[in-house]
Amino acid sequence: MSKLNAIGLDGKKAKKLSSELNDLLSNYQVFYMNVRGFHWNIQGEKFFELHLKFEELYNNLLLKVDEIAERVLTLGDTPVHAYSDYITRAKIKEAKNIHDGKDAVARILESFKITITKQRELLELAAEAGDEGTNALMSDYIREQEKLVWMYSATLKK
Ligand SMILES: [Fe+2]
Repeated sequence: MSKLNAIGLDGKKAKKLSSELNDLLSNYQVFYMNVRGFHWNIQGEKFFELHLKFEELYNNLLLKVDEIAERVLTLGDTPVHAYSDYITRAKIKEAKNIHDGKDAVARILESFKITITKQRELLELAAEAGDEGTNALMSDYIREQEKLVWMYSATLKK
């Protein structure tokens, strides 16, 4: 066991966790900007409905950006804070010029698949490190987003 950090977690395990959290943070930053773009560029008969839904979602993603960054700090590390790093680290790709509502929703669902999968990995790492704080945060995100996946998927059905 290596040295304990300020909150009593194994230093090496905390470092691994904060690095993975920085990857998650990078994904959220790209996801956030993509959804902001959907909010602006969406067209068609569902405009008002989707324009509002996307605003709700990007505000939610932005809250998570801050929570994850502050968790990284709590673990004793520095949150990634440059767009160039976000692009390199994120698995979610930038989405440009999306005007079609169904296309936007499909991309949101793909992005949730990436965040949920990453959060499950983090949940395991956190459990292994005895990091209840990160564990609880990831559990909340997973539960919330699994429900959103159901709801967004329903909009794609006829
Ligand atoms: Fe707006």
